Amino acid sequence: MNIIETLQNTVQKALKELGIEAKEVIIEHPADLANGDYSTNVALIYSKELKLKPIEFAKRIKDILDVQKIEYIDKIEVAGAGFINFYLSKDFFEENIKEILKQKEKFGSSDLGKKRKVIVEYSSPNIAKPFTIGHLRSTIIGDSVANTLEFLGYKVIRDNHLGDWGTQFGKQIVAIKHWSSIDVIKKSENQMKALVGLYVKFHREAEKDPTLDDEAREWFLKLEKGDKEAREIYDMTVEASMKYFNMIYERLGIKPFDTLYGEAFYEPMLKSVLEDIEKSGIAKESEGAKLIFFENEKYPPLMIQKKDGATLYATRDLATDKYRSQKYGKDTLVINETGTEQSLYFKQIFEIDEMLGYFDKKNRVHIGHGFIRSKDGKMSTRKGNVIWLEEVLDEGIMRAKVINEDTADMVGIGAIKFNDLKREASQNIIFDWDEIVNLKGDSGPYLQYSCVRAKSILQKSSFHMKEFLSALPSLRGLRHGTKILSYGTMYTAPLERLLYRFPEVVSRAGKEYASHFIAQYLLELASAFNNYYAQNKIVDENDPTSVHKVALTHAFSIVIANGLNLLGIKVPDRM
Ligand code: ARG
Repeated sequence: MNIIETLQNTVQKALKELGIEAKEVIIEHPADLANGDYSTNVALIYSKELKLKPIEFAKRIKDILDVQKIEYIDKIEVAGAGFINFYLSKDFFEENIKEILKQKEKFGSSDLGKKRKVIVEYSSPNIAKPFTIGHLRSTIIGDSVANTLEFLGYKVIRDNHLGDWGTQFGKQIVAIKHWSSIDVIKKSENQMKALVGLYVKFHREAEKDPTLDDEAREWFLKLEKGDKEAREIYDMTVEASMKYFNMIYERLGIKPFDTLYGEAFYEPMLKSVLEDIEKSGIAKESEGAKLIFFENEKYPPLMIQKKDGATLYATRDLATDKYRSQKYGKDTLVINETGTEQSLYFKQIFEIDEMLGYFDKKNRVHIGHGFIRSKDGKMSTRKGNVIWLEEVLDEGIMRAKVINEDTADMVGIGAIKFNDLKREASQNIIFDWDEIVNLKGDSGPYLQYSCVRAKSILQKSSFHMKEFLSALPSLRGLRHGTKILSYGTMYTAPLERLLYRFPEVVSRAGKEYASHFIAQYLLELASAFNNYYAQNKIVDENDPTSVHKVALTHAFSIVIANGLNLLGIKVPDRM
C-alpha cells in the first residue's frame, strides 16, 4: 500500500477534470498532526491558471475527491489559504500495527540500498595523540550512519582511517629517546597518557631548542627507510594507542570496524598516485613544492608534495581513494566523517578524485561535525590542556547513577550519544550535563525510560498477537460505532499517527546521511506515547479495547527500540 502514490494519482485526475495538467503533485505530512496525516498544496500552485482564489479551487478539488472512495482515507479538509488535508482511516492504523508486530526488529528496514557497497569511514584518531571530543563525535555519528545504511540494505564497510603516519612520529621518537624509553612507557599505568605527555613536552622543548625539530625530521626519515630502532618505537606507540582506542570503542559499544587501514597502509601506493598526477598534468610546481590547482580557482590549491619530496595527509587520502576504487569498485559510495574544519579539504579531494578517475564526485560524501564547547568554555583542547575522553564517559556514567545505579553504564553512554545525534551533525554543541542526563528533557535517558515503561506494561499483560488479530474485526466495529472509545483526545491517538512514519524517517536519514531525523522523530514519538499512557489505562480486563491499547504499546516499544538501535543506544530492561 503506497498511500502517497495513490493520493498523487487521485489528485492528478481530479485536477485534470478541472482542466489542469499537473506535472507534479507534492504530498507531505503537515507539520502539525492537527492538520491531518497528509497534505497537498496543489490548489495554491495551480489556482492562478483558472483565475480562482486558492481556497475556492481547493474546495472544488475536494468536492471531486469526496465522491470517490480513496483507500485508507477517511476525511478530507480544506484548510488555511488552500491546503487540502487528508486523514487516514482507523483501518490503516490497524493494518500498520499488525505490520509492526509482525516485522518486529525488522520494521523500518528496506532494500533501498540494493546491496550497494558503501564505505563509511569514521572515528580515525591519531596514534600517540589524544582521542579528542571531535573523534568521539565522529565515532558516534559514523557508527549510526553505518547502522542506518545497513538497515536500508546497503553493504556497509566500516573503516577507521587511523592517523598512523606523518612527521609527528619523528617527534614522538625523539621525545621517547630523550626523556623516556619503550620499557618505561610499557610499564606506565596509562601508556596513552605517557605518550601524549611526551608529545606535549616535545613541543614545549622545541620552542627553546629548534635543533629538536631537525632531529625529529631525521628520525622520521629513518622510520620511512625502515630503520629497526625507529620501527620498534613506532610499533610500540601503535600498540599502546590501539589498546586505548579499543577500550574507548568497547565502552561506547559501537559495532566493530571491518577495516582499520591507517594512513601508513597507503604509503606503498603513494608513488603510483604521484605518477597518476604527473600523467594527468594537473599539478604545478611552486617554489619546489607540487600543488594541484582547480578550475576557475574554485578552491585554493592543494599541496600534494613538499619541496623536500615528502608527501602529505592529502597524498595519502588520494592513495586511499585509489585503493578503494580498485578494491571495491568505482560505483562504491564513500563517506568520510570528520570535523567541519576539513569540509573544504574534502571538497578538494573529491574534485581531484574525479580528475584522476578514482571516483565521481557524486559517489563521495563528507559529513562534517561541529565542535563541542562546555558551558564554562573548559572543553577546548589547547596545548597541554587535554580532555581525556574516558573522564567524559566516567562523568556521564556517574551522573546516570542518580537515575539508577544498576543501569548507569547504558544510560550514561546513551545520554552522551543522544546529545550528539539529536541535532544536525554540522551544528556546534554546548556541552551541558544537566541537559544530557535529564530524564525529563530531550535526552537519551528520556527515550530509554519511555521504552522501558512500554515494556513493563507489556509484561503486565497476557496479550498475544493472536488475540489482537482475532479481536480486530470486532474492535473495528467498536471503533467505527457511535461509542467513542477512550483513545485520547484527538481524532485518533497521535501515537498511531506517528508509528507508521518510522520507515520514511529511516529512509530520509539514510538518504541524507543524517541521524538527527531519527533522533527527533523518536522524541516526538516518545512524547506521544507518554501522553497516551497518561490518558489511558492500557491493561484492563474489563475494557474490550484493552487488547488494542496493548498492541499499540507493543508497536511503540518495537519502533523506539529499532530507532535507538540505529543510533547505537542500548535499552536496559529496567530503569
Ligand atoms: N586522523 C584525522 C584527524 O584526526 C582524521 C582522518 C579523516 N579521514 C581521512 N580520510 N582524512 O583529524
